[in-house]
Amino acid sequence: MTAAKLQATISAWEAAYRRFETPAQEQAKFLRRLKSLGAHRFNRGLAVLELFCGRGNGLVAWERLGFTNVSGLDISAELLSEYRGPARTVVGDARRLPFRDGSFDVVAVQGGLHHLQLMDDLSLTAGEMWRVLRPGGKLLVVEPWRTPFLDFVHAACERSWLRAIWPKLDALATMIDHERETYEDWLGRPQAILDVLRSIVVPQVLRVARGKMMLLGVRREARSNVTRQAA
Ligand SMILES: C[S@@+](CC[C@H](N)C(=O)[O-])C[C@H]1O[C@@H](n2cnc3c(N)ncnc32)[C@H](O)[C@@H]1O
Repeated sequence: MTAAKLQATISAWEAAYRRFETPAQEQAKFLRRLKSLGAHRFNRGLAVLELFCGRGNGLVAWERLGFTNVSGLDISAELLSEYRGPARTVVGDARRLPFRDGSFDVVAVQGGLHHLQLMDDLSLTAGEMWRVLRPGGKLLVVEPWRTPFLDFVHAACERSWLRAIWPKLDALATMIDHERETYEDWLGRPQAILDVLRSIVVPQVLRVARGKMMLLGVRREARSNVTRQAA
């Protein structure tokens, strides 16, 4: 793919992402998820890093919970530039984090890992998340997951008439079209993905419901070997 074509694909995806939810809707969704993983019970002084933070609505959710030491990283300078708030923001690649070992108490990802190539880039990113977490640090992950609900949503995305009368569904379907390769690979390999995540954290909460996997894990002292690579 040429650079111009890649940029056009990214721009189309970003335009659909902006149409999918308003910032206020996205902030409320992120806040609900953080609370459901118990983040409202964490010490508010913890150093939090949100990866794949896009336009920063997840950062706002952490701030609303009262966290004051929040950083965000995303590869898109354009999306990051939309964030207004006190968090430190960094344009960067989650596969090579520009932070020192053990710099964060909490690392969070809400809908980003499924953009990575499996399994190489996921393993690199997992290794980086483990590296920048301090011993005993926490990892929070929320990502799409194959469930009957998600199958139903995908079936709805196939109906052009439904997309025509339901702008949010059309925005979702457009995003999926532009990330189809990594998205489908991600949905097809749940066991291998969980193996990678379990190699860096011990899960405290692991929940699958309504098309999402939600994980809260505590950093392992040492990375364990990933034994299974197949789904
Ligand atoms: C679905 S959005 C996630 C939404 C986001 N969690 C939020 O708070 O708005 C996925 C994000 O991942 C970013 N991204 C994709 N690949 C990346 C990488 N290798 N490193 C860092 N960010 C990446 C994209 O720029 C995009 O903002």
